[in-house]
Amino acid sequence: MTLHPNAIVGLKVDGNSIQIVDQLQLPHIKTYIHINSPDEAYDAIKSMKIRGAPAIASLAALSVSSLLSRSLSESPAPRFLASPDALKQYLRPILLHLNNARPTAVNLGGAIRRLATILDQYVGNENEPAARELAGALITEGKLVADEDVGRNITMSKYGAEWVCQQPKSLRTPKLNVLTVCNTGSLATSGYGTAFGLITRLHEISKLEDAFYTQSTPYHQGSRLTALELQSLSIPSTMICDSMVGSLFQHNEVHAVVVGADRIARNGDTANKIGTYNAAVLARRHDIPFVVVAPISTVDMDIPDGSHIPIEHRPAIEACLVRGVSYPVTNLQTPQPVTVQFTPLGIDKVYNPSFDVTPAELISAIVTEKGVAVKSLEHSSFDLSAII
Ligand code: MRU
Repeated sequence: MTLHPNAIVGLKVDGNSIQIVDQLQLPHIKTYIHINSPDEAYDAIKSMKIRGAPAIASLAALSVSSLLSRSLSESPAPRFLASPDALKQYLRPILLHLNNARPTAVNLGGAIRRLATILDQYVGNENEPAARELAGALITEGKLVADEDVGRNITMSKYGAEWVCQQPKSLRTPKLNVLTVCNTGSLATSGYGTAFGLITRLHEISKLEDAFYTQSTPYHQGSRLTALELQSLSIPSTMICDSMVGSLFQHNEVHAVVVGADRIARNGDTANKIGTYNAAVLARRHDIPFVVVAPISTVDMDIPDGSHIPIEHRPAIEACLVRGVSYPVTNLQTPQPVTVQFTPLGIDKVYNPSFDVTPAELISAIVTEKGVAVKSLEHSSFDLSAII
């Protein structure tokens, strides 16, 4: 299946060249920036120029592939290609650095672990041809991390849409209203999206009435990015402020809440953008199915529950600012980026976790490319081993 021609491409790869759209400047300014090294990938991830669990994993892996691929054609060959051991010494700190860019999304660590495993498990001659062979295996794996994402997103979106359509309240109406949090579309993945993909699928099969989405403060992934993606795909949608979820549920029939995930623990506890937990509590109060859509790579079977998920806290200042654009009166065609502080200067004590954990007990279904895991209301955890 080809992606919609209007879908926004967050990550462009052409041979060894990698470009990302600078998500800090969206939705008004669409600038692509080149990522020329793993260091630049680290900076882009850390500064949120690219964000979203699968997307940051893809960029990190691709930056390593591209580095190695360019090295293979250098003459004279760089010293780290002298032997597999030299390559291991060179790459290990690079992988560690990338791994530390953001802590909560397990996909990043998972992608790095895939590369590290190839590196560590390589046994062969200690000569240059062997180092080149090892580099080739790493290049292939890095590209695979990014390439495999779109296909699985389409698969899980179909499974998720089917499941949502089959729920009792959904069966009583031709079209559904859903709510989502944060941004889980093309900008957060390699394409199509996870929870956003489910919404896209509902729209494609003419089952979507309206996609409500929260602004997702303080970074506004909803009002800046999800808004733009929904608009570019002409998907009917309505923005709400984060504080309006309860009111939305009181006054509208909402058939499902669909969200992505940054890390899912073995029992199904799920870390996702801050505000997801609030939506889950309110969904339970209003008897609305709460659905998590994420690739298997987001499931961390090494941790028993959500209390083990490291939660990233962002700098205080980020919660005190909004980014946008202004239009100079002399040139109404050319928006200029502006950042506005809306708190008094000097406010530096801010509680600013980037994610919260929704207990499995509040989740109705976890959808992956392998299928849908469900549990009844009285159960407080999932058995994910069936779909791993
Ligand atoms: O801080 P962000 O913007 O990287 O957070 C992103 C989210 O929480 C997404 O919902 C999650 O990564 C799933 S993306 C398919």
